[in-house]
Amino acid sequence: MGSGIAQIGACAGIDTVLCDPVDGAATRGAERIAAALHRSAQRGRLTPADAEAALARLRTTQRLSDLFGCDLVIEAAPEKLAIKRAIFETLDGGCAAEALLATNTSSIPVTAIASAARRPERVVGLHFFNPVAVMRLAEVIPAAQTAEAVVAAAVAAAEQLGKQPIVATDVPGFLVNRCGRPFYGEALRIVTEQLATPAQVDRICRMAGGFRMGPFELMDLVGIDVGLTVMQSFATGSFGEPRWRPSPLQARLVAAGHLGRKTGRGWYDYSGAAHREEDPAPPQAAGAGLALRIAGSGPVATNLRALAEQAGVTLVEDPAAPALLADEAAGAPAAEAALRLRSCASASLVGHGDPSAVGFGLPTGPSAGRLVELGATRVSSTADLDAAQRIFEALGLHVERVGDGPGLVMRRVLAQIVNEACFAVGEGVGSPADVDVGATLGLNYPHGPMAWGRGLGFDSVLATLDALWDERREERFRPAPLLREAALTGVVQRA
Ligand SMILES: NC(=O)c1ccc[n+]([C@@H]2O[C@H](COP(=O)([O-])OP(=O)(O)OC[C@H]3O[C@@H](n4cnc5c(N)ncnc54)[C@H](O)[C@@H]3O)[C@@H](O)[C@H]2O)c1
Repeated sequence: MGSGIAQIGACAGIDTVLCDPVDGAATRGAERIAAALHRSAQRGRLTPADAEAALARLRTTQRLSDLFGCDLVIEAAPEKLAIKRAIFETLDGGCAAEALLATNTSSIPVTAIASAARRPERVVGLHFFNPVAVMRLAEVIPAAQTAEAVVAAAVAAAEQLGKQPIVATDVPGFLVNRCGRPFYGEALRIVTEQLATPAQVDRICRMAGGFRMGPFELMDLVGIDVGLTVMQSFATGSFGEPRWRPSPLQARLVAAGHLGRKTGRGWYDYSGAAHREEDPAPPQAAGAGLALRIAGSGPVATNLRALAEQAGVTLVEDPAAPALLADEAAGAPAAEAALRLRSCASASLVGHGDPSAVGFGLPTGPSAGRLVELGATRVSSTADLDAAQRIFEALGLHVERVGDGPGLVMRRVLAQIVNEACFAVGEGVGSPADVDVGATLGLNYPHGPMAWGRGLGFDSVLATLDALWDERREERFRPAPLLREAALTGVVQRA
């Protein structure tokens, strides 16, 4: 992270000193920067002269005291409070009174680092994202002691470094990593409950949600040990918030030494050519000759009707026809229906009191990908599941068979992402607009949590969470007060 930050500093026309006390580390960092800039020049992203000029602005040192003349110091040392406090104590003693002292910590309270300085009001969090040169976001995090003018100066510094700044409060994960927690946490719970396998969850997130990578392949990329440490810091920093409890599944992989890509094995095996199969192309829609009854009036029903129309399916009102029961408005199933397919958006099959039906989860809103989840209980019939699969394939959807639960996989993960963002906004951690900027620019999500909330309908997100709460009785599923409000008003506003 340190060399990445030094790179964007030098490229922004700033005289930059890269400091690392470990023998050879700063030189290696500078070599990495030179290689990156030469690569960029070869690709035509900057002129060779600009690359050389940036490198000429870069110096390296092993001594912290060589930074005493800097106007801005950004610390990116190992994530250990004692190391960071020692650095800030030294910098505070040596740097000019008006120099800005920033930390790139991702999980240590900025307030705990700032208090090592005699003038903590000039210490601020300036949190970049990996890879620094590519990710366009920087979070500015005032410590409890930080002066207003220092926050403004940090925002200006982030802009000068070419980043879009957002301001967040000093709470576990700040704004962006906090909003990203449920992508991992809920996925881990879904696998714990054996609702789906890690590979299935990843495929569903890619194909139905439009995420570039699923949560498990991302965990492998980041390092399972790193992810577990982050989860633990959320749990301790919040004094045990149930939504942020680490998963025993992660701890088991760490105990086995399966830390992800870096050890060749984590959730996936990296010893072969590819750790996973390519995502399948959805089948060609081919619904001619198929007669279906679609019951309901909400977004899922609307989406199904549009898919049916495109596929040439005949929609009928015949109570004996196979029935797609899309929402609460669908009413009770006709006893004579040849096949009952129930949306699990607001209840599991068991929650519906209809365990022998087939469940389905179809994304709506901004993430309407071409994948449908088929949910089943232990008593759902294989013949019904096969028939349901043929129906959805005729609608042009790839089918993923999972277990039974409210929201199944994609909607449950999205509901928790929207819920966490509503908690964060309600607790004043950041603004609704910054939540979406942070998630798209900092986490690479295809849409922000607020956009998802509006697209799915905040009322529909609340219905999924209420069902999870009703059926699981776990505090991690309690809806945020702001989500309840948004379900009625349709908008999330900052308090
Ligand atoms: N890796 C990420 O994705 C990421 C993203 C955002 C923020 N961060 C934060 O950035 C910081 C650095 O993370 P990283 O992934 O680059 O870690 P890293 O372990 O790759 O790099 C840490 C660097 O600090 C040097 N170092 C060791 N002891 C030091 C000391 N006493 N004083 C100063 N430097 C010392 C090491 O030589 C190394 O070059 C951490 O606070 C981390 O939380 C990391």
